[in-house]
Amino acid sequence: MVRRRLLELFACPRCGDGFAPVDDPQPSSVLCARGHRFPFDRGYLDLSGATPSDGTTARTFESFGYEWNTFDDVRDEDSEFAEVYFRDLDMTSLQGKIGLDAGCGKGRYTRFLAPHLQGLVALDGSSAVEAAARNLKSFDNVLVVRADLRTVPVAPGSIDLVTCLGVLHHLDDPRAGFGSLVRLLAPSGRILVYLYSRPAQFGARRLALSAAGVFRAATVRTPHRLLRLVSAPVAALLYLGVVRLGAFGQRVGIGPLARLPMAGYRGKPFRSLLLDTFDRLSAPVEHRYLWEELAPWFEEEGLVVDAARDEAGWFVLAHRGPKDPA
Ligand SMILES: C[S@@+](CC[C@H](N)C(=O)[O-])C[C@H]1O[C@@H](n2cnc3c(N)ncnc32)[C@H](O)[C@@H]1O
Ligand SMILES: [Zn+2]
Repeated sequence: MVRRRLLELFACPRCGDGFAPVDDPQPSSVLCARGHRFPFDRGYLDLSGATPSDGTTARTFESFGYEWNTFDDVRDEDSEFAEVYFRDLDMTSLQGKIGLDAGCGKGRYTRFLAPHLQGLVALDGSSAVEAAARNLKSFDNVLVVRADLRTVPVAPGSIDLVTCLGVLHHLDDPRAGFGSLVRLLAPSGRILVYLYSRPAQFGARRLALSAAGVFRAATVRTPHRLLRLVSAPVAALLYLGVVRLGAFGQRVGIGPLARLPMAGYRGKPFRSLLLDTFDRLSAPVEHRYLWEELAPWFEEEGLVVDAARDEAGWFVLAHRGPKDPA
């Protein structure tokens, strides 16, 4: 069974020993050779107790745990967004490969990768894994794990494809988190990341982001239930005043309107913008990048960039270069 083989990739986060083989297809816990036990009774392997979180990380996990267990179901429009996320990835090349979706949230995009890979670890540090376990339970080649992506207890060089979509920019030190993931890559292994971008030029998007930055100073401290209520009118204003207006401009050919930001939401239901509005206003940490700032990450790690595009965020696909020692 694939899930059992995925479990064999993991070492005990306390002592580094392997886990004892599990025969039960639905084990309630796993045990390492030295007797450290980890729960596996709610559809995911919980390694989170082994690494204490610092204050910011704990707030980040708390925020996303609330988000993904509130907006927890998968939606039809996810497939259209997934096309944008995975456009540069040749899915046929994933046959027989092992993947890791680091920071999988509720698994809304993980489920589009799973059918193409031999095995896939869906990992998240927050209680979002509860929603992920529900949304991914029909895939018997997926192992859902709760753990911090910076300390995944998997041997370096054992993953063929790492995806990390909308996650690293929420870390205190995104560059270090990126390095932790690259270490897991097998020779010729690939990494696909999505990271928030920063507009290089002055314009509507930069203005909107600055305004959001001012808001965020207060909203990241607002209780989540209240913030959910506040997000609704904010998202409604954006939907009518930017998304629908932009769609109208596009339809009738009014250039300045057609060029309004948030074009990715045109033709999508209001609920997708509501979710993203809550997401933007609640996540405690947010970094944004120009390509000049991101490109060195890949060079320094010996990666070859196969594709990089900014569509309201950087989608970058890269692979381990031939000269890389790992
Ligand atoms: C914006 S969500 C993106 C979720 C998913 N990739 C998607 O696009 O739907 C960011 C996710 O990263 C997770 N995350 C943030 N920091 C993490 C860390 N250090 N280790 C593991 N997961 C982390 C959060 O819990 C959250 O579920
Ligand atoms: Zn142990």
